[in-house]
Amino acid sequence: MTIVSPQPTPTISAWPSPPTGIAVIGCGYWGANYVRLFNELADSRVLAVCDEQPEQLAAVVRHLPDVIATTDVDEVLQVPGVDAVIVVTTATRHYDVARRALEAGKHVLVEKPLTTDTASAEALVAISTEHDLVLLVGHTFLYNAGVRAVKERIKRDDVYYLYAQRTSLGPIRHDVNAAWDLAPHDVSIFGYLLDAQAEWASAVGGRLLSKDREDVVFITLGFPGGVLGHIHVSWADPNKVRQVVVVSSEQRIVFNDLDPLERVRIFEKGVKRVPIADVDPIERAFGDHQLLLRDGDIISPAIRASEPLRNQCGEFLHCVRRGGRPSSDGARGVSVVRTMEAVDRSLALGGAPVQVAGGTTT
Ligand SMILES: NC(=O)c1ccc[n+]([C@@H]2O[C@H](COP(=O)([O-])OP(=O)(O)OC[C@H]3O[C@@H](n4cnc5c(N)ncnc54)[C@H](O)[C@@H]3O)[C@@H](O)[C@H]2O)c1
Repeated sequence: MTIVSPQPTPTISAWPSPPTGIAVIGCGYWGANYVRLFNELADSRVLAVCDEQPEQLAAVVRHLPDVIATTDVDEVLQVPGVDAVIVVTTATRHYDVARRALEAGKHVLVEKPLTTDTASAEALVAISTEHDLVLLVGHTFLYNAGVRAVKERIKRDDVYYLYAQRTSLGPIRHDVNAAWDLAPHDVSIFGYLLDAQAEWASAVGGRLLSKDREDVVFITLGFPGGVLGHIHVSWADPNKVRQVVVVSSEQRIVFNDLDPLERVRIFEKGVKRVPIADVDPIERAFGDHQLLLRDGDIISPAIRASEPLRNQCGEFLHCVRRGGRPSSDGARGVSVVRTMEAVDRSLALGGAPVQVAGGTTT
């Protein structure tokens, strides 16, 4: 006779926890990526989708016939098992939809910009804090391995200035101008690289394609310590560029998101002021400081390939399931909205510098 010894009963923590139930609200061009990713990730399942345009839902349901699809936000918030909501509607609708999701007790990932005015952005942060819910803002570039590599490289540098270009032919939005559509990416990257919020903004723009809103905007931002940032965005430029450049005392670093082979290029060249005591006596000029030129190599560091949006979704799930604060939390989202609001006011004033509300840290 075989004696079967009783197996120890597994503790609850030994069982894999069930996947996080996800609802995606807004199933247009960008929302489709979230539906794909949250279905691919092991720790989540898309249970429901919502879009006020039924034809957008039809495309999702064709691929995922078991998903609940509705045009009604309240209905999707009541679907059993939905723990977290992804808000991918047009920007001017983010606040209303995200607020309703938070008030229904859901963790929220909301696309950038968090909202289109500071008061409502702050209100979302307050609701998420009060109910202890995760609020992640879709500043996707903070999850880009290239941008993270740039931050690592400039850690000990004295940054002089940064500039970014984000131009292409459209896609043209009908609820916000090109600045609100594109510049939040660069404002979030600058804030992340400098660990600071802009103190002032100055912006001029042109309404080339319609009289309703600017489709090309040139923005200058002033950061603590006199660091300058410049951003050029356009929906009317046939040359597609997605580039950020950092110039520091030690080097010039180019992040080119459209170059998969050399996403980051480092020019180990720079100029800095050094005290005269540190300069070789033969090279000394008059005065107590001297400009020291540095001429080194051009390097393309290996950047491990990873999909930034997948990294962002993974971090959101980690915070929902295990706790913690996302890299692009609500506070960072508010900081970007404050800066964009100052950009808007400066545009209306023909480029006059406008103070950015709030503190200087992100
Ligand atoms: N992080 C990034 O790199 C990135 C890239 C592209 C777009 N985005 C952001 O994603 C958002 C969506 O952009 P898109 O290109 O997919 O736009 P889109 O116009 O293609 O899709 C938006 C969808 O939201 C739906 N919608 C609007 N209000 C709604 C509401 N109240 N309830 C339900 N559905 C509603 C619309 O019907 C539409 O189908 C924008 O905020 C945009 O800034 C971010």
